[in-house]
Amino acid sequence: MAVHDVTPQAVGPAGAAAKRGRPKPFSFHDYVVSILIALVLTVFYGGYYLIQRTYFFNAPPGIDPFYVPDKVIAVVGMILLAFTFLIGPIYRYFNAFDYLIQYRKEIGIVGGFFALFHPLVAYFFLPLTFPQSEIPLTSVTYGAGLAGSLVVIFLIFISFQNAVILLGANRWWFLHRFGLRLVILVAVIHFFCIEWNTWVQWLTQSAVKPSAELLYPWMPEPTTFAGLFVVWVVIVRLYETVFLYRDLGLKPKPIAPDANLRLRGRRFFIYSFWVLIACNVFVFGRWMYYFSIR
Ligand code: HEM
Repeated sequence: MAVHDVTPQAVGPAGAAAKRGRPKPFSFHDYVVSILIALVLTVFYGGYYLIQRTYFFNAPPGIDPFYVPDKVIAVVGMILLAFTFLIGPIYRYFNAFDYLIQYRKEIGIVGGFFALFHPLVAYFFLPLTFPQSEIPLTSVTYGAGLAGSLVVIFLIFISFQNAVILLGANRWWFLHRFGLRLVILVAVIHFFCIEWNTWVQWLTQSAVKPSAELLYPWMPEPTTFAGLFVVWVVIVRLYETVFLYRDLGLKPKPIAPDANLRLRGRRFFIYSFWVLIACNVFVFGRWMYYFSIR
C-alpha cells in the first residue's frame, strides 16, 4: 500500500494546490520566504568561505574574483534542490512541518536559478581557475551538470499554471516528479565527481599546506557538510521508494492512509537523521584535531 498523503494534514489555502500535486498559483509571499532561506544559506556559506580562505571577491593573484562566489552559488543551489526533494517525506511523516509543502515549488525554483547561475559564472567568469578547456561538457562530470541545468530550465518552464492545460494533469505531474529526481541524480553525480577526492584527502591524510588560495586548510570544505546532507536526502527518498512505496511511483496514487507505513518512514527519517548528525560531529572532531596539530 502506498504511503502518499497518509493523513489529512492541515495546510493553508496556498499549500492546498501543492499538496494535491497540482500547479500552485503565484504567491509573492512564498517567493519572499524562499529567497530569504536562500539568502541565509548564502550568508552562512559565504561567511564560512571567507573565514576558511580569508577572501571573497578579492582573490589572490591567479584566482578569479568570482571563484568563491561561484562556489557559494553552486553549493546553495545544490542544498535548495535537495531540500525541495526532502519536503515530500517531511510532509508525509510529520504533521508539525506541514507548512513546508507550501514553499516546495518556490524553494525548488529559487534553487533552480542558483543551479543555472552557477554554470554561467563557472563557464564564462573563471578563466584563471577553470579555463573553458578544463570544463569538457561531454565528460561525465560536466555532462551531468549540463543535463541537470537543462532539466532545471524545463521544470521552471512547466511550473507555470498554463503548463498543466497544455500537458494534461497526469503528464504534468509525471514530468515534475521525475524531472526533480533526474535533476538530483545528475547534480549528485556532478557534485560528487568534483568533490570526492578533496573530501577523501581531507578526511584521511590531514589537511594540505596553507597557501594563498586556501589559508586555513584544516577547516573542512563547506561542501563536506552539504555532501552529507545531500546523501542523507537521497537515502531517505530511496528508503521510501524501496521499502514503503515498493514501486517507482509511475502513476499518481489514491490517498491510502496507512499509519504503519507512516510510522516506519518517520522512524527511518529520525534514526538516519541522527546518523547524519554523527557524521557531521565526526567531521567537526577531525577539524579540531587538525587544528590542534597545525
Ligand atoms: C544542476 C546543475 C548544477 C548543479 C546543482 C551544480 C552544482 C555544483 C556544486 C555543488 C559544485 C561544488 C562547488 C564547490 O566546489 O564548492 C559544483 C562545482 C562545479 N561546477 Fe557545477 N553544478 C551544476 C551544473 C554545472 C554545469 C552545467 C557546469 C559547466 C559549465 C558546472 C561547472 C562546475 C565547475 C567548473 C565546478 C568546480 C568549481 C570549483 O571547484 O570552484 N556545473 N557544481
